[in-house]
Amino acid sequence: MNDENALLKQALLLDGSPDMIRKFYEGWSHSYDTDLVQDIGYIGPEIVADALCKKVSGNATILDAGCGTGLVGVELLKRKPGLIVDGVDLTPAMLAQSREKGVYRKLSEADLNSQLTELAHDFYDGTVSAGVFTNGHVGPSGLDGLIRVTKPGAPIVLTVRDSAWEADGFKDRIEQLESEHRTRTTSVTQSPYHTNEGIYCQLVVLEVI
Ligand SMILES: C[S@@+](CC[C@H](N)C(=O)[O-])C[C@H]1O[C@@H](n2cnc3c(N)ncnc32)[C@H](O)[C@@H]1O
Repeated sequence: MNDENALLKQALLLDGSPDMIRKFYEGWSHSYDTDLVQDIGYIGPEIVADALCKKVSGNATILDAGCGTGLVGVELLKRKPGLIVDGVDLTPAMLAQSREKGVYRKLSEADLNSQLTELAHDFYDGTVSAGVFTNGHVGPSGLDGLIRVTKPGAPIVLTVRDSAWEADGFKDRIEQLESEHRTRTTSVTQSPYHTNEGIYCQLVVLEVI
């Protein structure tokens, strides 16, 4: 098992500040795919794509929230080539890498902590997010924007890194959303996440009410 990647250790200390996040990912955007997939054995994009594709039709319109360099878009289209996928992210340099992959219909800058008010209400047939709900990035309040833009009855699939699940309040918030009748929790399953480092996440599947 490898030690945790040095850049990833820094990423967990970002404290959620938009300026710090943009600056950090701007510096990482070019080597991100190689570092994450080859070195770390990151499988967040694959596990969310597997879970989402079980829940949506072949021509569904999907939002990838915090799309980064576009690894999730690639995995979604491998499984269902007819999907229409839009991506949002805070960091222009990461969006530029996503654009090069050529798998997104629309890519735009947005802050998940601001309710995604740039996007239409109840619009997407499914929403997916990998690697974003984690320490130092987006906290549980970021779930509100995903719920706002996803159609009632449609799935939201996301990873929450194990180290953030209880410590950052995700477990409590997801239980609260269910008690407020805003989402139904379809499943929460522990999954390998960074396979070369022995790091796990919770794979969360919700249905918007
Ligand atoms: C670890 S990367 C994950 C990218 C991609 N989803 C993946 O699985 O490879 C985290 C991404 O979250 C984005 N991000 C962090 N905070 C954000 C926020 N408040 N709103 C939108 N995107 C954010 C970063 O810019 C970065 O691209």
